[in-house]
Amino acid sequence: MTRSSTRILVTGGTGFIGSHTVIELLAEGHTIEILDNLSNSSPSVIDRIAEISGVQVPLHVLDIRDRERIGELVSDGDFDAVFHFAGHKAVGESVASPLEYFSNNVGGTISLLQAMHDGGVRTMVFSSSATVYGNPLTVPVSETTPTASPANPYGRTKLMIEEILADLFRSDPRWNIGILRYFNPVGAHPSGLIGEAPTGTPNNLMPYLTQVAVGILPCLQIFGDDYPTPDGTGIRDFIHVVDLAKGHTAAYRRMLDNPTFAIWNLGTGKGTSVLELISEFETATGLTIPRQVVGRREGDVPQVWADVSLALRELGWKATLSTTDMCRDAWNWERTRLR
Ligand code: WQD
Repeated sequence: MTRSSTRILVTGGTGFIGSHTVIELLAEGHTIEILDNLSNSSPSVIDRIAEISGVQVPLHVLDIRDRERIGELVSDGDFDAVFHFAGHKAVGESVASPLEYFSNNVGGTISLLQAMHDGGVRTMVFSSSATVYGNPLTVPVSETTPTASPANPYGRTKLMIEEILADLFRSDPRWNIGILRYFNPVGAHPSGLIGEAPTGTPNNLMPYLTQVAVGILPCLQIFGDDYPTPDGTGIRDFIHVVDLAKGHTAAYRRMLDNPTFAIWNLGTGKGTSVLELISEFETATGLTIPRQVVGRREGDVPQVWADVSLALRELGWKATLSTTDMCRDAWNWERTRLR
């Protein structure tokens, strides 16, 4: 195995972050297989990955809780590593259905880790989230900022999985684990062939905004403008999904050179408010977005953005795409994607 020709199983690889990361891993020369239950994505993503990369990636349609079949896949696959994206990710849905979230996200990860253990595969890149920081006392947040109790079951599943991975490494340092804490991924591949395709009404700001822009939804609701922030709306660290994907390949290169247990923030290091993002979107597209201020959303935090100095120092990675790039690519995807 050399750094540029490993075999990787990507769970959730037909999803938003997973599919963009598969593109970057293929570009680095790795061999990929995807495991996905297609609960929140389409098999057509495989064809679009092929159109972008020239590679027809094998897709295994499985539930990661299917311990027997996951065990067969991992033991037969001769994999060097697993990139683990598969999981439910809707904050509101997790409040309504916590058992499904703990079963799928935490139980599924345990099933996957057991299969990896039995198959002798001990390298995992895990998709975590800034939501593990809860409502931070100070911003920006670094990897040593205490993880608070996340405001919802979705965030708690991410924190639980991080702690399971830490205990696993403590029990057997042969494991090689990279935890990547995403801030707010937005945008789409510049080809317009892959992007964010939420089922039903979008929970997140950017896909809701682009569906208003394209006329599917009538008006963007701004969840509160009375936060203790300069313009009263929430502040987040929006990062282009292609930058985020490149952060994964940078982390993986580091993990192959320095096997260990590590956590890295993947953000831009810049806070952008809801009103600022709307304004940047209007400037980038020339469109006017109808909006209405409504009450705060349960579980939202006023502001969170990343200290990204560790990823720069240890991975040699930093985000380079601008908020304008994010808005342009998100709009290009929304207005051209097949529905
Ligand atoms: C951003 C800001 C809202 C929608 C969550 C998860 C995170 C990740 C992304 C999965 C907030 C405001 C939103 C809308 C609005 N999960 N907003 N109107 O909540 O920061 O992060 O989703 O990938 O792990 O925690 O993202 O985009 O929902 O909200 O005003 O219609 O936009 O109040 O200030 P969030 P978001």
